[in-house]
Amino acid sequence: MNKEYKIVLINGDGIGEEIVAAAKVVLEKVANKYQVKFDFTRALAGGEAIDAVGVPLPDTTIEACKKADAVLLGAVGGPKWDHVAPKLRPEQAILGLRKALSLYVNLRPIKVFDALLEFSPLKPENVADTDLLIVRELNGGIYYGEKKEAYIDTDGVEKASDLEIYSRPEIERLMNFTKNIAKLRNKKVTSVDKANVLASSRLWRKITNDIIGQDSELELEHLYVDNCAMQMVLKPKQFDVVVTNNIFGDILSDEAAVIAGSIGMLPSASLGDGTALYEPIHGSAPDIAGQNIANPLGTILSAAMMLKYSLNMSEAAEDIEQAVKCFLQAGYRTADLYRPGLKKVGTNEVGELISQYIK
Ligand code: IPM
Ligand code: MG
Repeated sequence: MNKEYKIVLINGDGIGEEIVAAAKVVLEKVANKYQVKFDFTRALAGGEAIDAVGVPLPDTTIEACKKADAVLLGAVGGPKWDHVAPKLRPEQAILGLRKALSLYVNLRPIKVFDALLEFSPLKPENVADTDLLIVRELNGGIYYGEKKEAYIDTDGVEKASDLEIYSRPEIERLMNFTKNIAKLRNKKVTSVDKANVLASSRLWRKITNDIIGQDSELELEHLYVDNCAMQMVLKPKQFDVVVTNNIFGDILSDEAAVIAGSIGMLPSASLGDGTALYEPIHGSAPDIAGQNIANPLGTILSAAMMLKYSLNMSEAAEDIEQAVKCFLQAGYRTADLYRPGLKKVGTNEVGELISQYIK
């Protein structure tokens, strides 16, 4: 009997439905080639779940994800739900899933495809061959620390606060993961913090020194986040593995993403000890939803990461990466990466075209 994997697909909002559909086409091709069966089920999250059942992350979605071998998600959010209470915002679905599945590490690889160099806002010679991996802490820090929504304090002044808090075990598990993954790459780790100002960063740095710094196989450097943001655009090639906290990782990964030509290209994997979640790093782009112009390559490359990290199908993952390369080299482009002379294709054509390059 063919090996069978349970995959939960979550469209979410905006362009989510279109980009997940494109990735599903590619996964079906892979299933065919490798004689495995993907048992796809759909689950709701974000605005679509708010509209259907009144909450952004229904329990049924959490249960389905826990039982699955992997989860592939499009994107959530949109202006339609901007007015809802903070705890019911679509984004709570992502934050809730990251917690419910204990997804404490987020991998965001930034690889530059030669065919897209001309779309980078940076000089092509500074960008060519960039290959860096952002390892973002995903279960702690200011995202999950105690929040006080706007309130009137005893001094009569309106205030609000968010707490940046990290514990030793949270940092240790991330650094142990980082240590192992860095050894599979070029063995250079840049830890990003703000230890000149933040106490949480000083704990971060101490533990990083103990775990990464003490490992003779790895080279470790520390950068302050402001300097890192600058270095990222000055000389992205200097980086191999960049490890950082939840909020800095969120910000730096958008910056790094655009180096690759379009944020639409970038995949991610969120890993913990159980089911993992895969999603493109971009948002739901409500302004272009339903127009068949979204770039699904970030989602397709996320599906490749899923094959590699959750389904033990590294060869299939490489097939997809290679197919994306061929697709781009052949001049196929969605609107975000189009210029006259290239072949413009709609979102719904990309899955089929990529599949044709998987032999
Ligand atoms: C990301 C997104 C999310 C985040 C939002 C949608 C909550 O920006 O995955 O980078 O801030 O983590
Ligand atoms: Mg972000």
